[in-house]
Amino acid sequence: MNKTLISALIFSCVIATGHSGAEEQVDPMAARILQQLKSDGRNEYDAVKDPDRKPVETMQFFGVNAGMTVLDMTAGNGYNAEILSAAVGPNGIVYAQNSHFVTTLIKGALHKAMRGRLENNRLPNVRYIVVDSEDMPFDKSIDLAIWGFNIHDVYNRDGEAATLQFLADIKRALKPGGVLGVSEHVGVAGNDNAQLHRLETSIVLGMLEKAGFVVEETSDLLANPDDDHSQSIYADGLRYRTDRILIRARKPTS
Ligand SMILES: C[S@@+](CC[C@H](N)C(=O)[O-])C[C@H]1O[C@@H](n2cnc3c(N)ncnc32)[C@H](O)[C@@H]1O
Repeated sequence: MNKTLISALIFSCVIATGHSGAEEQVDPMAARILQQLKSDGRNEYDAVKDPDRKPVETMQFFGVNAGMTVLDMTAGNGYNAEILSAAVGPNGIVYAQNSHFVTTLIKGALHKAMRGRLENNRLPNVRYIVVDSEDMPFDKSIDLAIWGFNIHDVYNRDGEAATLQFLADIKRALKPGGVLGVSEHVGVAGNDNAQLHRLETSIVLGMLEKAGFVVEETSDLLANPDDDHSQSIYADGLRYRTDRILIRARKPTS
């Protein structure tokens, strides 16, 4: 057999098997997150959310890395904060933020659940802070922020100016070049999205750009074609399975 043919055969084997015989590279961040999903002491609803939140792929899309200082905006009961804790690892820090208002919702259930998952120093790299966004003690010190499933709450309830203020507060906290990862339940024009707890993606993108972020990429990783966008995100059978958009935006370096 001539050398060209041998090379061609080896090449086609690599394509066919998907690897060259070397050990498969496991992303250490993915391994830490997968381990965390099995951890005792997670919130009772976390495991229900996992399949449709795809935490490993979501963190990879946002660009989370080991050792980062990250901010979970409106952490709620802390689903993302716990995933971020594993994602940034022992040398990273997660600030999980809830406003005073959010701590009063559902008779304080979100606040209690957030505190519950931190009991006994369970997530040593997570700092829970109850502070309104405008009072956050961060000034260009955060590598990456996540604002999960909450922009509809602020926009639909308090309007555009409040949303832009919230985004300005995140932008102030981020380092130049820092990332903001946003997730949202997709809404379509013509529906009462305030009632449905959704928001049109074009509005989310418009708010990010108006606030001075550069939208880098959107992802349909959490898309659900069976969601026709006409029902509340809390509807039976749809809860935790809504059609969702992920957006990665960046604070400009100058
Ligand atoms: C927004 S969720 C998301 C929490 C977390 N970021 C996540 O991704 O899991 C937390 C809860 O707070 C409520 N909430 C948060 N901010 C709100 C606001 N400004 N007005 C009304 N409800 C709000 C939401 O409806 C929801 O029940």
